[in-house]
Amino acid sequence: MSRFVAITAVRDFEGRVRQAVTGALHGDLQTLSPEVLKGGTDDVFKQLTGAPPEVMILGPGVNPDDALKLATVFDLQYPEISLLLVSEPSPDIILRAMHAGIRDVVTPEIDVNELRVLLERACLAAASRRRGMQSVSESGQERGRVIAVMSPKGGVGKTTVATNLAVGLGAVAPMSVVIVDLDLQFGDVASGLLLEPEHSITEAVHGSASQDSMVLKAFLTVHPSGIYALCAPKKPSESDYITADHVTRLINQLATEFKYVVVDTAPGLGEHCLATLELATDGVWVCGMDVPSIRGLRKCFSVLRELQLLPQGRHTVLNFADRKSGISVQDVEATIGVPIDTVIPRSRNLPYSTNRGVPVLQGTSRDSAAKGLKKLVERFDPRLETVPQGKLHRRVVVS
Ligand SMILES: Nc1ncnc2c1ncn2[C@@H]1O[C@H](COP(=O)(O)OP(=O)(O)O)[C@@H](O)[C@H]1O
Ligand SMILES: [Mg+2]
Repeated sequence: MSRFVAITAVRDFEGRVRQAVTGALHGDLQTLSPEVLKGGTDDVFKQLTGAPPEVMILGPGVNPDDALKLATVFDLQYPEISLLLVSEPSPDIILRAMHAGIRDVVTPEIDVNELRVLLERACLAAASRRRGMQSVSESGQERGRVIAVMSPKGGVGKTTVATNLAVGLGAVAPMSVVIVDLDLQFGDVASGLLLEPEHSITEAVHGSASQDSMVLKAFLTVHPSGIYALCAPKKPSESDYITADHVTRLINQLATEFKYVVVDTAPGLGEHCLATLELATDGVWVCGMDVPSIRGLRKCFSVLRELQLLPQGRHTVLNFADRKSGISVQDVEATIGVPIDTVIPRSRNLPYSTNRGVPVLQGTSRDSAAKGLKKLVERFDPRLETVPQGKLHRRVVVS
């Protein structure tokens, strides 16, 4: 099997890739002529020897439009392959590459050492994506989707998004959704859903519930919309007795019982949050329309990429969207380095719904914030999943 495939006719570049691969990285390199791009993915695949590669290098010397077209199809059909585009990294190319699912845009002048580092990282990413796919298909027992709603900052709308997502999914899969409040000290899922829970996460992770999923279910609170909730402890001090291992066990238990486990988290990347990310199939990344929030998310992505803790499904939400903020969606995308999937405009209905304890998706609100939240729910609705999620990105507009 060729672990690396380069589509290029530039011999000098091919030589550098070969040097980068030889010795330091396992596997060999297959080179294809840029002519193959004219025929589309099938033609590319016919030329490949053995199993699909881990890393595909597009260029230099390929037509960028052809390369991006091929990348879009590969990203959908073979998301486990890491794609690199070799081209002068202009902002326009970077943005288009990002939308086509390309991992990195590399200058043709890159030296051997830098190339080696990039290829090694691309291999690690490919391996981690394959692992994610296998864990779903090989585990035998069907596990639910674990959706972590995260952001490095507080007050950006995590709880609003998490409660609405859970309620919205409750309509898709009644009694098969649980929302877990892992903002252990100051969680407000209970108040956001107007619940008076008898039990909290504290009882769920200690004692018999931790050994038996049926017992655990008895500690959950049922919400009128047909979802279950596991709320944060009543006293912030109780959080000291909840460890990352408790969280791991709890989420594993819930994932075997529910189709969707929506986890609301505390701001930042604390131990409970990292434990959640290890098991999450999906990350919903909430970002406000202010510079600290946007920069925070960029840092967060970069740290999690290094730790290989980014869940396979990525769903970016731009909340508090406001045309008058002086920042555009494109600015946000360029800073965080990934496309925005869902935009939720600033809306008076959301604080009102938080204060009443009735998520907007529980009612029939048609305002634009509710529409944005519905679009997010649809990304997880199997009836609408004709296109793999998180792969195709249409330009979103703030109105
Ligand atoms: N798009 C929005 N427009 C207006 N207010 C919002 C919006 N999203 C969230 N809010 C309000 O902002 C406050 C903080 O939101 P919350 O979901 O609790 O954030 P977090 O969980 O990230 O701390 C809440 O009162 C909520 O109603
Ligand atoms: Mg919150």
